[in-house]
Amino acid sequence: MESIKSSTYFVHFKENGYKELNNCIADKKYSSIFILVDENSMEHCYPKFMPQLHTDIRIEVIEIESGEEHKNLETCSGIWHALTELEADRNSLLITLGGGVITDMGGFVASTYKRGINFINIPTTLLSMVDASVGGKTGIDLGTLKNQIGLFSNPQMVLVDDDYLMTLNEREIRSGMAEIIKYGLTRDFKLIDQIKYFNNLKIKSLIKRSIQIKNEVVLEDPKEKGLRKILNFGHTIGHAIESYFLDSNEKESLKHGEAIAIGMVCESYISSQLLSLTPEKTQEVKELINFLFDKVIISKEDYASILSYLKHDKKNIAGKINFVLLNDFEDFQLDCSVTKELMIESFEYYSA
Ligand code: GLY
Repeated sequence: MESIKSSTYFVHFKENGYKELNNCIADKKYSSIFILVDENSMEHCYPKFMPQLHTDIRIEVIEIESGEEHKNLETCSGIWHALTELEADRNSLLITLGGGVITDMGGFVASTYKRGINFINIPTTLLSMVDASVGGKTGIDLGTLKNQIGLFSNPQMVLVDDDYLMTLNEREIRSGMAEIIKYGLTRDFKLIDQIKYFNNLKIKSLIKRSIQIKNEVVLEDPKEKGLRKILNFGHTIGHAIESYFLDSNEKESLKHGEAIAIGMVCESYISSQLLSLTPEKTQEVKELINFLFDKVIISKEDYASILSYLKHDKKNIAGKINFVLLNDFEDFQLDCSVTKELMIESFEYYSA
C-alpha cells in the first residue's frame, strides 16, 4: 500500500513500513532505542514486532499499565525516570507500540524528555491507527479531563500494520469504528456505506481512507485554528460523557469510541435543531450507532454532572462552549453555541 505523506513525516504501511523503519533507524544513527508498551501490546504485538527490527543498536523496553486511567503525569514521571536510569540521551529514539494512550503519552514523554527526542508511532488498535497516531497531537489527561496537557509534536514516521488488529477484541474494534464514522459524516459519506456493509476485507481500505482524510485536514490546519475542529465532531459531548463515566464509582468506564458514538448521536440531534441536518439523516446516524454499539444508560440524574465537564472542553474560548455541527453530511459549521436545554434534549433523543 502506498505511503501517505504528511508535513514532516510519512505514514507507511505493513512490509514497506518495516523497511522504512529500519532505514530510518540506520540513517539517524540513534544511540539507543526505547520501546514503550503496555501489558497488552507487550504480550500480543511485541513478539510480532521484534523480529522485524534489524539493528545492532541497544534496545530497551519500558512497560506501563494499560488504560486511560494511567494516561497521567505520574505515569509520565515513571517513564522519564526509566529513560534516565537507562541513560537515554538526546539522540535516543522512543518507539510507541500500542493504542491511543501509548501513542499520545509516548509522544508527549519523548517531546519533553531532555527538550525532545525523536519518536515513531506504531499504532496497534484501530482507533490509534485511524486517529491518535497521525496528526501530531500528543498529551495526557489531567484527572479525568481528557488530553488537557500536551503539545503538537510530529513523529519521525508512523507505521500502520493491520495484522496487529487480530489481537483485539470486538469491543476495541468497534471503538475505532466511531472515529471512522466521524470521518464519514464530516468528510466522505461513502465510508458510512462501507461500515454498514463491513467485512474484514474492507478494513485496509477503511484505515487508509481515514488516514488520508485526517492527513488532508491536518495539513490544512495543523494547530486546530479552524478546519481541524471538525475532527472533534461528537467529541464535545462525547468527552464529557467519557470523563463522567471514568470518574463515576457506579458506572463502568466507556471506551473512547463508545463515548464518541453517543456524542455523535447527540450532536447530530443538536445539528437538526439548530442547523439544516434533516430528522431523517439524524435518525440514520442514531440507527447506525445503535446497530454497532450497545446502548448505554444515561439517566436524568447524570445530566447535570455530564454538563459540568463541558466547561473544560479544549475548544472553549472565554467560557463559551463551541460545538462543531452538521448542516448536512459532509457539510459542517464550526463554533456553534448550544444551550444546556438543547444538550439535555439531545441526551433524551439518544436514550429514547
Ligand atoms: N483527534 C482529533 C485530532 O487529532 O484533531
